[in-house]
Amino acid sequence: MLEIVSADGVFMEDIDGKKYLDLISGIGVSNIGHRHPAVVNAIKNQVDQHLHVMVYGEFVQSPQVKLAKAITDTLPKKLNAVYLLNSGSEAIEGAMKLAKRYTGKSEFVACKNSYHGSSHGALSLSDNENFKQNYRPMLPGVSHVRFGCSDDLGLITEETAAFVVETVQGEAGVKVGSKSYWQKVRQRCDQTGTMLILDEIQCGFGRTGNLWAFEHYDLVPDILVSAKGMGGGMPIGCFIANQDVMTVLTNNPVLGHISTFGGHPVSAAASLATLETIQEEKLLESVEEKQALFKKLLKHPKIKEVRSIGLMMAIEFESYNVLKPIIDKAIELGVVTDWFLFNDYSMRIAPPLIISQEEIKDACQIILQAIDEASN
Ligand SMILES: Cc1ncc(COP(=O)(O)O)c(C=O)c1O
Repeated sequence: MLEIVSADGVFMEDIDGKKYLDLISGIGVSNIGHRHPAVVNAIKNQVDQHLHVMVYGEFVQSPQVKLAKAITDTLPKKLNAVYLLNSGSEAIEGAMKLAKRYTGKSEFVACKNSYHGSSHGALSLSDNENFKQNYRPMLPGVSHVRFGCSDDLGLITEETAAFVVETVQGEAGVKVGSKSYWQKVRQRCDQTGTMLILDEIQCGFGRTGNLWAFEHYDLVPDILVSAKGMGGGMPIGCFIANQDVMTVLTNNPVLGHISTFGGHPVSAAASLATLETIQEEKLLESVEEKQALFKKLLKHPKIKEVRSIGLMMAIEFESYNVLKPIIDKAIELGVVTDWFLFNDYSMRIAPPLIISQEEIKDACQIILQAIDEASN
């Protein structure tokens, strides 16, 4: 267990003054690095203006408005209304309610090995018996299909309000679908009047080398969900849809979905600074090169497979028993990695996008040393 007392860029420092290179970004959060100066300044400025005031539509809050505008400017025209919340799970709940309300249907289809969060609705969509068994009953009417498997799409029917799916599966250990799979998903949703909800809480906000992971697949969702990396280290999440769709939450009852702290002005200001930093520093341009460098350097007989899209990577080993001592050894040597919730034999690598080529070389050298020195 590390006691971190400070973090800056790609480094964290513990209570004994030992430095660690962070290869997981607080699980896909610190995409632009820890305490990016633009984010810290935006937070300080907003703290000097106002903190929480009121969120139920009575007051206009410019940090929220500016953020929503900046986000929709990055998206296809159809996705032009942003509902700001505090976290990924909360945003998933909002997206589920929106789909139920807009379609008038109540069933959901999600994917095997998916993770959508820990609240009851999000957990119902998630697929891991370990996480669910002591909390049943779950939401009724949720079924699970194999991710990336077109043959299963028939389970999406006229009764399905939404197909909820991670554009890149995170906790399953970085699993991607083919372009043709995604085309079929879109077709099936259109055929059955099912909303396509893409969960980009982990894979969005630049992680895969595009701002939004769905851009890899010529695909436009009906509802897009974001959080984690969106806040630059501050808590925030959102679901995004077309204005005509979103409007159903404004009537019968008027406050169809509410959250006291949703889109907190300090988080919204931090999030806008995060997005602007990604754009102004052109952080996405080097992601592919950095991914390629990791892949070139991480070669070892004990590594079975490397799965990656951008800087979202899974390094597969034979088993948890092989991997765990390697992760422990790497931490001892000053590099923090992790495994995945539903794939404990793959090492998670998701560094801040600002990581330099030199830092990648150092990190890979330490990982290879850890593989050699780990006691397994
Ligand atoms: C793909 C995905 N969806 C949803 C969530 C839940 O987000 P939060 O922890 O902010 O509630 C996570 C968190 O790890 C996630 O990775």
